[in-house]
Amino acid sequence: MFKVFRFFLFLISPERAHYTAVFFIKRLSRFPFLSTFLSAKVKNEKVLATTFLGLEFKNPIGLAAGFDKDATCFSAMGSLGFGFVEIGTVTPKPQEGNDKPRLFRLKKDEALINRMGFNNMGVDEARKRLMSGDRNGLIIGGNIGKNKWTPNAQAKEDYLYCFKSLYDCVDYFVVNVSSPNTQQLRALQEKEPLIELLNALNSENALRGNKRPILLKIAPDLSFEQLDDIVEVAKVTKLSGIVATNTTIDRSCLTQSEKRLDQIGNGGLSGKPLKDQSTAVIAYLSKKTNGTLPIIGVGGIHSKEDALEKLAAGATLIQLYTGFIYEGPPLIQSIKQGIVSSRETVQ
Ligand SMILES: Cc1cc2nc3c(=O)[nH]c(=O)nc-3n(C[C@H](O)[C@H](O)[C@H](O)COP(=O)(O)O)c2cc1C
Repeated sequence: MFKVFRFFLFLISPERAHYTAVFFIKRLSRFPFLSTFLSAKVKNEKVLATTFLGLEFKNPIGLAAGFDKDATCFSAMGSLGFGFVEIGTVTPKPQEGNDKPRLFRLKKDEALINRMGFNNMGVDEARKRLMSGDRNGLIIGGNIGKNKWTPNAQAKEDYLYCFKSLYDCVDYFVVNVSSPNTQQLRALQEKEPLIELLNALNSENALRGNKRPILLKIAPDLSFEQLDDIVEVAKVTKLSGIVATNTTIDRSCLTQSEKRLDQIGNGGLSGKPLKDQSTAVIAYLSKKTNGTLPIIGVGGIHSKEDALEKLAAGATLIQLYTGFIYEGPPLIQSIKQGIVSSRETVQ
């Protein structure tokens, strides 16, 4: 059934396909039988309950940032079986993002290249939707960024604005300094500016009774030396955890011709070719910190085996984006079944 749906979706442009799919998912999710039908396919779902950073997740499978940027469909995604949804990246002011076309399918590689550029309606719009929407038992993460026109020297103010706006409607925050599609954003991953940014958010967090976990989303293209810096930053700033990883600028694993890649132009690569690179980052961070650093693993998960690999490498939760585009909701059920079986074997 999903394959037929995907066949038609893949006939239209990737960005239009996204909005079409969301339209149908939202309509379908209004029928209560959907989630009952889907969860009936997974035996012993209770085994999937996961505690992470003091939060109770009904299962460890999340929708990665960028899919529901404006918090328009998180509830519907919960009906499909996700245990958590990370909305955003949101910025203080609305912004249109880069010119279209800005999202490309690489079917043979089961990958996507995007240079969306944080297109979003602004954090206050997302806030309104989160306040009025049905949570459906979901944990919600707020992925925050800066506006395109804000220089890095003032980026802190943008992140603080988003933090304050979303504080009472999300369960955790992710600081996104790793998108390749906003000029100079990745420079904020350097030690000094990063410590300053995270400390500013920590001070704001400390003013409130119920502190929110703050995680950092990192690029898969960091060197081991840069990853060591991230570990140090995490210690110094008492970071709650890491989301590893964002998209890559590396194109070496692709089967596409140079010509096709030149036609596409700049952007972040996601999907299957990213899998090993992102798993390697997770494994490195986990080993370096003796498994003490909480990690959400994301990048190239297209099967239950990929998901189990991320968990084995040191992630406690995982997120899907491109795999969900290619494999659809059956991927969630299959991963659930895979995790249930692996946990039952251990017990
Ligand atoms: C079209 C698209 C838009 C994205 N937008 C964001 C975003 O706004 N913020 C963010 O942190 N990550 C964003 N991502 C990155 C994903 O959250 C994820 O980290 C990355 O795609 C790797 O996972 P995947 O291989 O499962 O897609 C985006 C990815 C895609 C494909």
